[in-house]
Amino acid sequence: MINQSLWYKNAVFYEISVRAFKDSNGDGKGDLCGLTEKLDYLQTLGVDCVWIMPIYPSPLRDDGYDIADYYSVDSAYGSLDQLKGMIEAAHQRGIRIIMDLVLNHTSDEHRWFQASRSDRNSPYRDYYVWSDTDQKYKDTRIIFLDTEPSNWTWDEKTGQYYWHRFYASQPDLNFDNPKVQEEMLNVARFWLDLGIDGFRADAVPYLIEREGTNCENLPETHEYLKKLRAFMEEHYPGRILLCEANQYPEDVRPYFGDGDEFHMGFHFPIMPRIYMALKKGRYEDMAEIMRRTPSIPENCQWCTFLRNHDELTLEMVTEEERQWMWKEYAPEPRMKLNLGIRRRLAPLLDNDRRKIEIANSILFTLPGSPIIYYGDEIGMGDNIDLPDRNGVRTPMQWDDSPNAGFSTGKPFSELVQGELGYQNVNVASQINDPDSLFRAIKRMISIRKTHTAFSGSSMEWIETGNPAVSAYLREHDGDAVVVFQNLSDAVQVAQIPANFQKTVLDLFTDHSFSLGTSLELRPYSYLWLQV
Ligand code: NOJ
Repeated sequence: MINQSLWYKNAVFYEISVRAFKDSNGDGKGDLCGLTEKLDYLQTLGVDCVWIMPIYPSPLRDDGYDIADYYSVDSAYGSLDQLKGMIEAAHQRGIRIIMDLVLNHTSDEHRWFQASRSDRNSPYRDYYVWSDTDQKYKDTRIIFLDTEPSNWTWDEKTGQYYWHRFYASQPDLNFDNPKVQEEMLNVARFWLDLGIDGFRADAVPYLIEREGTNCENLPETHEYLKKLRAFMEEHYPGRILLCEANQYPEDVRPYFGDGDEFHMGFHFPIMPRIYMALKKGRYEDMAEIMRRTPSIPENCQWCTFLRNHDELTLEMVTEEERQWMWKEYAPEPRMKLNLGIRRRLAPLLDNDRRKIEIANSILFTLPGSPIIYYGDEIGMGDNIDLPDRNGVRTPMQWDDSPNAGFSTGKPFSELVQGELGYQNVNVASQINDPDSLFRAIKRMISIRKTHTAFSGSSMEWIETGNPAVSAYLREHDGDAVVVFQNLSDAVQVAQIPANFQKTVLDLFTDHSFSLGTSLELRPYSYLWLQV
């Protein structure tokens, strides 16, 4: 057993769009009561912590990441009491709930921005970043490249530009203003008092702007985030902060501080390299980025993922690699978005069960706590006819009844059709089928949980003399597991180093055998061996 306050170090996370998960009242939109009904499902899968995407009132120009009021729940999802009820019901099942804390920006419909833009002398003017010129902070990249020509937008009424790292409808808060800093601590306090177990902190690299920099990862940003952590540590120990910093590992490392900033951080760069490895049938790109990953403090953990609610981001690869990834994984231009690919796991991997399983094997055995994106555990499809990232945020496919068992009303979004649509891919048909993808993933989760080897944050690569076979040792607290994965579509032979030529236990079959000098692996097969 690991220390309970370090629960996140070996937890399985699950990301949910509340709107898309389960509708309880027939209005076609998923809600908190619907999610509450489905907690048993999440418990069956083995989920320890659910991350819910924003449920705050919002004009939904960025699906809720444009917040109009930090202190309530949009009535489409339910009420604060229903949220409390959902959290309690989750806790009864041993499941924790974290939510998005969007610090960097608000919606332009937030009352602070309304006041700020109404008058240069408004007490809220300084809550946002205003300028007479759009020539400031020229070294800052634009994130939503497909739609935003600039990080500055002109405000006619008060005759200045305001700063925004995302859509123009998401003005950036001014974290140089102590009042803003204080406001956001109050926001955190409100939700923690309500019982939430922590936050996935959105877009944290961008809190502070400074001339002559790229306005990312600045020291003053870390200073504020440390304040937020200290505040949580003092009043809400055991609750976590998960860092969304889409950066290279060496730039994410400072977000862990000396164990006094974030508890967890997403490992963005490993993600595209898993897809690279599977397409090339070679593990070297994965190994290279993991070797480049610095060690982190003992009380911290990485968070690994294969997909999430955004496009599969290619920000953390080289230009050449990005072009290659687009060529291989986004053959149609409309599959691209900004610097990424707006598709789900199963269609990306050709709905090939072997590839989907091995990708999950990688996810569940790399250092870090894994996050599953809702629906990927059943191999749900996407709908690229829908704009922006909506195609990967379609209703959860519960069964093959009309509306996929998601709602008795007309769903807020079109459902996925075809091979990966709800008629063919759904929870009902998989949950009791021992050969289903759901059951394979459930099994990986349950094995992972019984092995402390996976709760550390380091790994040791094993040289097998075969570039198609990734092999690594995970070791922690007296438990050791060796993982072999054949990333290619051909049979491969791995050489076994002398120190691993011993009796091992196959964790999937429960059979012991002796590892000899070599090991033959079927295409896309994986082995987890206790040594
Ligand atoms: C990152 C979120 O994941 C994304 O969905 C959102 O658009 C931006 N941050 C802006 O909040």
